[in-house]
Amino acid sequence: MTLRLGDTVPDFTQNSSEGEINLYEWAGDSWVVLFSHPADFTPVCTTELGMVAKLKPEFEKRNVKVLALSVDDVDSHKGWIGDINETQTTTVNYPILADPDKKVSDLYDMIHPNADNTLTVRSVFVIDSQKKLRLVLTYPASTGRNFDEILRVIDSLQLTDDYKVATPVNWKDGDDCVIVPSIKDPEELKERFPKGYEVIKPYLRMTPQPNK
Ligand code: BEZ
Repeated sequence: MTLRLGDTVPDFTQNSSEGEINLYEWAGDSWVVLFSHPADFTPVCTTELGMVAKLKPEFEKRNVKVLALSVDDVDSHKGWIGDINETQTTTVNYPILADPDKKVSDLYDMIHPNADNTLTVRSVFVIDSQKKLRLVLTYPASTGRNFDEILRVIDSLQLTDDYKVATPVNWKDGDDCVIVPSIKDPEELKERFPKGYEVIKPYLRMTPQPNK
């Protein structure tokens, strides 16, 4: 199934390192980062899952739950979690879905049919509190992901859901934002952006981040 941005993501129930999980129930009103790795006991994945454990407070601050996945079974995940905790000086504090029957991997198109179709690719799905898909990333097996970037995109998505702004190149929380082109009325501009704004071009107007 091809999932596109804005689609409602499919629900599923699958076993995990922390017991059975139904996505919709488990998510509740939270956002979700669902991310897959090719296999347990592989080096890059070990560093990635360790980093996500360390960043869990940052995800929680943004009302985001994290959920990992691979096609390995629960016993494998539990054994590997010991290695992650030992080598990455952390404690894995979120569930890893066990998807040996590829139920979730197929539903979310995480297996590349023209590559090694026994493994999930490195995918990331950011799902909002309405169960809508907001970001998809696909990485090659050889390249570990940058989870600070995923937090940065979540900051942008949550900000731009609430205000009539977009975020420019390399934006990070606290930086100036772009006013969306559809807002043209001077009264509305004054009301929406009381901190003021700079007109660089009629289509490029910058304003301090509205919620700071
Ligand atoms: C890794 O996570 O280290 C990895 C997984 C599959 C292929 C290459 C590297």
